Amino acid sequence: MNGKTIVLGVSGGIAVYKAAALCSKLSQAGADVRVIMTESAARFVTPLTFQTLSRSEVAIDTFDEKEPSVVQHIDLADRADLVVIAPATANIIAKLANGLADDMLSTTLLATTAPIMVAPAMNVHMYAHPAVEHNMRTLASRGVLFIEPGTGQLACGYVGKGRLAEPEEIVRAVEQHFRESGRLAGKRVLVTAGATVERIDPVRYLTNDSSGKMGFAIAEAAVRMGAQVTLVVGRTSVPPPAGVELIRVESAQQMLDAVMSRLAAHDVIVKTAAVADYRPASQEEHKIKKSADELELKLVRNPDILQTIGQHKTHQLVVGFAAETRDLDAYAMDKLRRKRCDLLAANDVTQEGAGFGTDTNAVRLFDEHGLVEAMPLMTKREVASRLLTVIAERLEKGASPTR
Ligand code: CTP
Repeated sequence: MNGKTIVLGVSGGIAVYKAAALCSKLSQAGADVRVIMTESAARFVTPLTFQTLSRSEVAIDTFDEKEPSVVQHIDLADRADLVVIAPATANIIAKLANGLADDMLSTTLLATTAPIMVAPAMNVHMYAHPAVEHNMRTLASRGVLFIEPGTGQLACGYVGKGRLAEPEEIVRAVEQHFRESGRLAGKRVLVTAGATVERIDPVRYLTNDSSGKMGFAIAEAAVRMGAQVTLVVGRTSVPPPAGVELIRVESAQQMLDAVMSRLAAHDVIVKTAAVADYRPASQEEHKIKKSADELELKLVRNPDILQTIGQHKTHQLVVGFAAETRDLDAYAMDKLRRKRCDLLAANDVTQEGAGFGTDTNAVRLFDEHGLVEAMPLMTKREVASRLLTVIAERLEKGASPTR
């Protein structure tokens, strides 16, 4: 964090006492921390605490302009390499989501072009309130980063989700942000996500359980790292991240066409989509009417998109995914070689917390020489960060694609 300016926005909740520890840890890590408090935050902990810990004056009042040569909120907004709001109350989240600027912190938040990281802290029901959820989704879709609150005993007496993330966790997220940011600048990354849909007739189709979460986490991490991201998406159960070029497809054939027509323009291809291996031999124009007791559905093989990419790649680094239920390493290495991937991320879908629909995954990453990294069970966001870090390292080294 050396040489980085972090504007720490402190809004008013009991967790302000934890923000003091955060301020201290960020300063100790080498950051130039500039604190902005809301009036209510200053009623929980005195500004002097933050001034002493950050060794800088604390800003509270927009009209308290001490330095005639600068406008303070613009100066802070411009200086920031990162803005961290901790704790972030429902109120400051609502203000930022709606563009309100009625105090020093909210005004600076609108004036800055730096990335913003929000660590919410509030009562469990407030955190789950549709209005708060809606505001957080709005902010996330604009690229605001969130550090989820913890679950446990809350100061208000309730037990549940809403406790400010621990200062150590916030520091780790900040460190990760600076490590990652700009690392994929100038690179074009294409990610496929979700399940393909193979139509039987106009109202029926074959699909699978893929939620799209892993691919979306990868796309989101690639955006964070400065890449230009194209997301080719089948059927998913969660909304896609912001800041990507989104291409919706249904069938494996449509996904193949969408990917192959864009292959040359991309540096990295990550194939997380769960592609149907078979499709109905024919697609009925009209809804199939029931008649006989049995109905046979004939299926034919779909093209293998990853294999086709492997055959046509030139400079691209190609990453495949594999969901397995047994002999993970052997099947993974076989797939990697057969489909000429540079990296293959394999997971055992029988393991609890890994695979379809979950927010976590346990991935073993392979290259042509064997195991690169065995990731224990972690969030899909963390898997995405780790995977893209390996990708970035390989691009930086100028690794040539596996033939
Ligand atoms: N894949 C693909 N096109 C297909 C099938 C799979 O591009 N028609 C890609 C997936 O996106 C994934 C990788 O291949 O990145 C592995 O998918 P998986 O379903 O595990 O592999 P299959 O080749 O279908 O192998 P099998 O069904 O024999 O396990």
